[in-house]
Amino acid sequence: MQEKINEIERQIDEAVKDVESSRTLQEIKMKFLGKTGKISELMKNMRDVPPEQRPSMGKVLNALRQWTEEKFGALEKRLKTIELKKKYADEKIDVTLPGRTTPDGAYHPNTLIINELVSVFAGMGFEVFEGPEIENDYYNFTALNTPADHPARDMQDTFYLSDELLLRTQTSAGQIRVMEKKSPPIKILSPGKVFRSDDDATHSPMFSQMEGLVVDKGITLCDLKGMLDEFARKIFGENVKTRLRPSYFPFTEPSVEVDVSCSECGGKGCRLCKGTGWIEVLGAGMVNRHVLEGCGIDPDIYTGFAFGMGVERIAMLKYGINNMKMLFESDTRFLKQFKG
Ligand code: PHE
Repeated sequence: MQEKINEIERQIDEAVKDVESSRTLQEIKMKFLGKTGKISELMKNMRDVPPEQRPSMGKVLNALRQWTEEKFGALEKRLKTIELKKKYADEKIDVTLPGRTTPDGAYHPNTLIINELVSVFAGMGFEVFEGPEIENDYYNFTALNTPADHPARDMQDTFYLSDELLLRTQTSAGQIRVMEKKSPPIKILSPGKVFRSDDDATHSPMFSQMEGLVVDKGITLCDLKGMLDEFARKIFGENVKTRLRPSYFPFTEPSVEVDVSCSECGGKGCRLCKGTGWIEVLGAGMVNRHVLEGCGIDPDIYTGFAFGMGVERIAMLKYGINNMKMLFESDTRFLKQFKG
């Protein structure tokens, strides 16, 4: 018997020699002290021992069990302390470490202009409407008095997605969507991205427009001019004037191109205005009666005006940006300068 006990003690010493984690130690412990462990088996065998030997056997076995329990207990305590220290070290938080800062963002100059335009026009009673960027041919062209084969379709190089669907070339498409749903009085402002197959220093295949539409009884070109004067003063400065030049758009009649006096030289002529004293900022006109009719609005009762301006163009003029590409490159050195 003593031999068996010595053997078990030897086995225990051997098994725990290189143990490094309390979990493995626990597994080893079960092999000896668990229900079916070696020591427990020995205890069970007591049944077969002759009664007179039982007390002395019991004593040695109990001693063995106690020795084993103490050994595992001590080891466990040591391992747990080491593990706890390691855990604390791993989870250590350096409260003196400075916080990570997220740099403040800034509005893109386009967004600044859009926000400014919206607030100027909202002050004149305009509501904002946003139409879809993927339009169908009807809203972008046909309903705007530009049927298939109309030469004015060549004014804009269109990205077609299918025979019917295209990337809108102008926010004017939104005019139709509004007039179909609403009856006059109508006074809406419609900002949005538009797309044209065009790419150079002053053109980008994607740019932004701001559309305006007013329809009511008795609206005249004078109202358009008055409203544009107000817009130009608010955006470019008190002394800025506007002028209308005759132009052509299929959906307006008459159509005009609107210039503002050059805010850089005050109209005397400089590089920015190419010596003319004027800078073109938008297209506009009185809504063509065919367009009103197509939307179910009686042109003998109601008239209206519409205008559409390029947001990038306004941003370039207002902030003195000479290359449109800068507005699309996301270069933070450029964008940072617009931090309010
Ligand atoms: N949609 C025209 C363009 O993109 C601008 C415009 C809008 C002209 C409204 C007249 C009226 O060129």
